[in-house]
Amino acid sequence: MGIQITPSVLNADLANLASEVNRIRSADWVHVDVMDNHFVPNLTLGLPVVESLARSTPLPMDAHLMIDDPDRWAPAYAEAGCGSVTFHVEAAAAPVRLAREIRAQGARASMALKPATPIEPYEDLLDELDMVLVMTVEPGFGGQGFLDLCLPKIRKARAMMERRGVQTWLQVDGGVSLETIERCAEAGADVFVAGSAVYSAEDPDAMVAALRARAESAQRALGQEGSDAVAG
Ligand code: DX5
Ligand code: ZN
Repeated sequence: MGIQITPSVLNADLANLASEVNRIRSADWVHVDVMDNHFVPNLTLGLPVVESLARSTPLPMDAHLMIDDPDRWAPAYAEAGCGSVTFHVEAAAAPVRLAREIRAQGARASMALKPATPIEPYEDLLDELDMVLVMTVEPGFGGQGFLDLCLPKIRKARAMMERRGVQTWLQVDGGVSLETIERCAEAGADVFVAGSAVYSAEDPDAMVAALRARAESAQRALGQEGSDAVAG
């Protein structure tokens, strides 16, 4: 799978959600941040809005659930038509059962980690997951500064996936911009959420293209490094 760019609508004009989503035709996914004011100190939107948005766009929806008790709520987002459903492992009581339920509803199952949550304990869960989301800010708000301290975790996650031979996607979310996307791609990320970088750009499609180009060149350099290491 190549590089995928996923604008986050948190930073869009929320009163005009459908048109905001549909004006970025080059997006691979629409990233929808669901916040419940418990798991994170912010409140956004929930299932009825996501259901209606899914009917209003041809783009696949990537639901990022920053909510307590995802075991109870997450499968409904898959049923509502989201192509990918991400729950936070810090909030999930039974992440394996939950990932299986999301997959059973026909969606990709994804697990997110906050900056202070290590990836190592979850290596054995990788087979159950279609994507891992490494947060690169504390979840809750758009427009925060990128946390470089998360880069080693992205590298570890990529190394684990390679070791196990799984095709799990590796997403990063928070502070992703033209400044920071290369660092993430070099570390092994391949799916990039970008909120303020895309929605504050004068031409969001041009920004998606620029982000994609930077990530692709960093990914190529990474591949080159890998083959040099094998050759040398
Ligand atoms: C933050 C959300 C992000 C946010 C990203 O908790 O999960 O998806 O919208 O916004 P930027 O790209 O501005 O950091
Ligand atoms: Zn998000």
